[in-house]
Amino acid sequence: MSQRFVTCAHCRLPHEEGSARCPFTGPPLDPGAPFVAPPEGEHAGRTLGGRYALRERIGEGGMGAVYVALDTALGREVAVKLLLGREALSASRFAREARAAAAVRHEHVITLHDAGALDDGTPFLVMERLEGESLDRRIAAGPVELADALAIASQLLAGLEAVHRAGIVHRDVKPANVFLVRGEGLHVKLLDFSVAKIADASRLTRSGEVVGTPRYLSPEQARGAPFGPQADVWSVGVVLYELLTGRRPFEADTLAALVTSILLDEPAPPSTHRPELPPAVDRVLALALAKDPRDRYESAAAMRIALAKIARYAGADTVTDAVSSGAATLPRWIEPTTLVDDAPPDPGDA
Ligand SMILES: Nc1ncnc2c1ncn2[C@@H]1O[C@H](COP(=O)(O)OP(=O)(O)O)[C@@H](O)[C@H]1O
Ligand SMILES: [Mg+2]
Repeated sequence: MSQRFVTCAHCRLPHEEGSARCPFTGPPLDPGAPFVAPPEGEHAGRTLGGRYALRERIGEGGMGAVYVALDTALGREVAVKLLLGREALSASRFAREARAAAAVRHEHVITLHDAGALDDGTPFLVMERLEGESLDRRIAAGPVELADALAIASQLLAGLEAVHRAGIVHRDVKPANVFLVRGEGLHVKLLDFSVAKIADASRLTRSGEVVGTPRYLSPEQARGAPFGPQADVWSVGVVLYELLTGRRPFEADTLAALVTSILLDEPAPPSTHRPELPPAVDRVLALALAKDPRDRYESAAAMRIALAKIARYAGADTVTDAVSSGAATLPRWIEPTTLVDDAPPDPGDA
């Protein structure tokens, strides 16, 4: 699905089309305002790094454009993501993050094959090409079955365990970054991790926020506090809540109100929206969405195990299978090196 952006006349930053208001300055976005998007067609037909022949564009988010491409060296199809508009990106940091991301090998995480830069310095990533659709589309079609929601969340958590083990916090787990791979049964892959979200300067942090909706942001990220892998656990909680109820646990018209809601509101238990949900689902989501990370599931694995228990109870075998393939116990996993001192947008800074 292609995302488009509307330029806010006040902050002059691009926001997702469909956002009614500017998340930073508050006024309604003018749907007639010019669209900002990575230049269409400009890169199709190019060959990057003497090797990757770009064909058509298959997706875009706030960070850039994703193309299907031919890896002419190996004769296979790949996906290439151009990280457009990243002028403050430091090449050495990009390379370091790309190496960390490339170390993650997991069936529920997109596989990174290569990384490079154009002559003008624009970084690009080469990854496996997926076919299917991103989860935001599925969610738009309405709430999903309990077993499917549990399977999606469990696979996502299993993928995150691998990401976390590599010392990476994803930081932007949301339906647009989760891909449902076409094929038999449900197969989820986590996209768009860390590499694209390197915050090298406050400018980038800020534009990094513009890219994403802050709806999935953990309270510690929203507060600008140091955060670790449990921030991703929170985001999975928000995604699961939405999968089950079709509603967002935190929703507001302005960024300030949204951040306040994330920091203070206790969302209604999912069963208030869908009474047939087992009480254990309410409990799991209360623990995933605990404001204080010390009260939250201590790891992605801990939440996945809790979901597996519900799945067993609800007779959803796929989740039990997913669990038996992963590590059952992990130590509490927050190392200082994994903390990100990324400042979120200041809600008062309108
Ligand atoms: N490897 C891939 N194969 C197929 N489609 C992809 C792939 N990577 C990304 N996409 C599509 O492109 C969209 C944007 O990719 P993403 O990595 O999230 O970029 P951004 O950083 O711009 O958000 C995704 O939602 C997805 O639909
Ligand atoms: Mg994305």
